[in-house]
Amino acid sequence: MDRREFTKASLGAASLAMLPPAIAGPEHLIRKAIPSSGELIPIVGLGTNRYGVDESAASRAPLRAALERFHKLGGTLIDTAPQYRTSESVLGDLIADLRIRDDLFVATKTDKSNAADTNAQIQGSAYKLKTSKFDLMQVHNLRGWKTAFPVLREWQQEGRIRYIGMSTSQANQYEDFEAVMRQEKPDFIQINYSLEQREAADRILPLAADNGVAVIINRAFGGGRIFKVVGDKPLPDWAKDFGCASWAQFLLKYACGHPAATVAIPGMTKLRHVDDNFGAAHGRLPNTAERNRQEAFFDSL
Ligand SMILES: NC(=O)c1ccc[n+]([C@@H]2O[C@H](COP(=O)([O-])OP(=O)(O)OC[C@H]3O[C@@H](n4cnc5c(N)ncnc54)[C@H](OP(=O)(O)O)[C@@H]3O)[C@@H](O)[C@H]2O)c1
Repeated sequence: MDRREFTKASLGAASLAMLPPAIAGPEHLIRKAIPSSGELIPIVGLGTNRYGVDESAASRAPLRAALERFHKLGGTLIDTAPQYRTSESVLGDLIADLRIRDDLFVATKTDKSNAADTNAQIQGSAYKLKTSKFDLMQVHNLRGWKTAFPVLREWQQEGRIRYIGMSTSQANQYEDFEAVMRQEKPDFIQINYSLEQREAADRILPLAADNGVAVIINRAFGGGRIFKVVGDKPLPDWAKDFGCASWAQFLLKYACGHPAATVAIPGMTKLRHVDDNFGAAHGRLPNTAERNRQEAFFDSL
């Protein structure tokens, strides 16, 4: 019997949920289904807009360690974009070096305003990410959406893109975003949603739920700003009821606890943040009453 089997045999399922992610094991991760296919995906993914570093070993080593741990803990969805400086190339190199491409769900984006440029950009992303197939290609911030969606559909029909999506992180785009969602019927949307910024729950998240659209949540920490708001204030005692041991887990469980949410993609370049955030993918998610309590508590800070 190895250490993990011994641990499992010694503890019940409820106690297992409280263990650190590295001990509880990837098989215990909370997963949600992509509505258009039923494919299950762990609720914590990886945002990489800070992976655009140079080629030096000193810059890349911490990212390699974070990515390796993300994979070891069972994470699959990685979100990048050509706009994140060298992020696609850095990830392409690290994924190849770690030999983990087949285990991952690689999502990137396009933002060009005509079909030829969109095709060229996607080919560039394939080259940089060292992949012949994308799991998800998203129209970035609605840029070029009219000409991009037909191109993405061609790639999808040829089996070179599995899912099509669109992203935003700004409430002033929501009205247009909603209209394009209704027209283009993507498999995925990506949108900002956090305890601090809840506007996506007014119309966009219900629309996604009603139409079977998977939802990636970006900026669940407000880009890191929310940690300054909560400072060193203690978590409420009742946060333990749904397995939160840190503010990051409190914030991620809130975002992923929305019924329309499929996966959150916290930006994380530090190993300790990966460990912390995967705690949110264990145990259970807060129910509606608990999420309402989270909102009231956050608003009172
Ligand atoms: N329109 C779009 O398509 C769009 C827009 C914005 C973002 N995105 C995507 O969404 C991802 C997430 O957004 P974001 O990175 O801007 O914001 P975020 O996830 O809200 O916050 C990331 C920040 O939180 C810190 N952090 C992570 N885990 C932590 C923890 N457990 N404790 C304390 N601090 C922690 C990170 O630090 P470290 O880096 O030091 O670990 C980083 O500074 C992006 O990386 C990108 O992939 C897409």
